[in-house]
Amino acid sequence: MSFERALNVFDLERMAKRRLPAGVFGFISGGAQDDRTRNNNRAALDRLRFKPRGLVDIAERGQDVTVFGHRFASPFGIAPMGIAGIARFEADIAMARAAARMNVPYVLSNMSTVPMEAVARSCDSVKWLQAYLPADRERSVRFVARAAAAGFQALLVTIDVPVGANRENNLRSGFTLPLHVTPRVIADGLLHPRWLTGVLLRTLAATGVPRLENSAAHDRPSILAAQNADLRAGGATIDWAFMRWLREEWRLPLLIKGVLHEADAREAVACGLDGVVVSNHGGRQLDGAVAPVEVLPEIVAAAGGRLTVIADSGFRRGGDILKGLALGAQLVLCGRPLLYGAALGGEAGVAHALQLLKAEVDRDLALLGATGIADLASADLLGALAKALPDGAAAP
Ligand SMILES: Cc1cc2nc3c(=O)[nH]c(=O)nc-3n(C[C@H](O)[C@H](O)[C@H](O)COP(=O)(O)O)c2cc1C
Repeated sequence: MSFERALNVFDLERMAKRRLPAGVFGFISGGAQDDRTRNNNRAALDRLRFKPRGLVDIAERGQDVTVFGHRFASPFGIAPMGIAGIARFEADIAMARAAARMNVPYVLSNMSTVPMEAVARSCDSVKWLQAYLPADRERSVRFVARAAAAGFQALLVTIDVPVGANRENNLRSGFTLPLHVTPRVIADGLLHPRWLTGVLLRTLAATGVPRLENSAAHDRPSILAAQNADLRAGGATIDWAFMRWLREEWRLPLLIKGVLHEADAREAVACGLDGVVVSNHGGRQLDGAVAPVEVLPEIVAAAGGRLTVIADSGFRRGGDILKGLALGAQLVLCGRPLLYGAALGGEAGVAHALQLLKAEVDRDLALLGATGIADLASADLLGALAKALPDGAAAP
C-alpha cells in the first residue's frame, strides 16, 4: 500500500514495519529495556484531556510560530535521528527537503551518514544541528566551526546520553552499532528485497560502507568500526562548565536536548543558553524516566521566559502537539513518524506525514475554539486532571 493512503502517522508506522527488515524497524521503533518510558510517553499524553471553548469565531486561524526569529508555518518540526540512512537512501536529505517545503524546522543529527554540508546545500531553509559533543574541547571547537561554516543556525547539544542505553531489542535482532553482519542480519535483509536494493545496495554503490560523516568524537568512523561504541561522548562526558565554555564558542542559538528536571532548566538559564528540549529521547535512554508532558509546567516555570522551551517524545497527533503547547512549550518535535514517512516515500513520504500533522493541528485548533498558537498556553484548555495536580504538574 502506498504511503499516500495513510490517514495518520500510525498507519505509516504499520506500513514501515512491513517494508523494513525487522532489525531496522526495531532500531527505529524501540525504546530502552522494557519500553516503559516509551509507552508512557503516549499514555501521559492520553491522560490529558481538552476542555474546549465554544462559540468562538474560528474562521480565520493560523498555526504559525516564531522561534529564534524565524516564522515557521506550523508549531512542530523534525527531531534529530542518527543513522536515518538505514531506513532510506539519504533520508536526512529527504527530511530536510520536506521540512523546507512545509516551512517547519528540521534538526540534523550529527550521527548521520550524510555530510552536514550536503544536507545544508540540499535546500534553502533554516537548519538546526544536534550534536553529541566530546569533552575534548579542541575537537568540539572544530566541530562547531564546521557547523557554522555549513550554515547551521542553531545547535542542540544532547545531554541524555552520557553512556549508551540498554536497548535489548537491538541486541536480540543483531542490529547494534557497530553493526555486526551476522547470518541473521543478512537473512533479515534478504527477506526485504525493496529495502535491500533501494537502501542497502544503493547506499553501498553510492558511498561504500556508510560512515558517520559528522561525528565530533572521531574522524568519519565507519558504521562497522569497532571504536563506534563510545563515539558519542568520546570517553569523558561533558558538564555544565563545558556548556559555559561552549556558550562563548557558539554565539547562535544554543540549546540542550534531553532535559527532564527543572533544576537543569535553571542551570541552562545561568549558563546563558537559549533553550531546552524537554525530552526523554523517545524512551530510548533511561527506562523509567518521566514523560515530557509530566514535567513541562515546572520546566516552563523554571525557564521564566528566558529560554525557548521545545518538547519531544511520543507526539503523534495534532492534538498531542497542542497539548504540549498548552503546557507551555513553544514548539514540538516529532521523531519516528517522519522517518517512517522517509522509509516509505522519501521526501514525499515525509511531506505526507507533516501534512497529516498540520491538518490535525488545524482541525483541533478549531475544535478547541482557538484561532492561533500564541494564546494556547494561557487559554486554560486542559481538563481538571492537568490542574488538580500540585504545582501544575501535568499528569500522575
Ligand atoms: C532512530 C532514531 C535515532 C535517533 N537519534 C538521535 C540522535 O542522533 N540524537 C538525538 O539527540 N536524539 C536522537 N533520537 C531521539 C529523537 O531526537 C527524539 O528525541 C525522539 O525520537 C522523539 O520521540 P518520538 O520518536 O517518540 O517522536 C533518535 C530517535 C530515533 C527514533
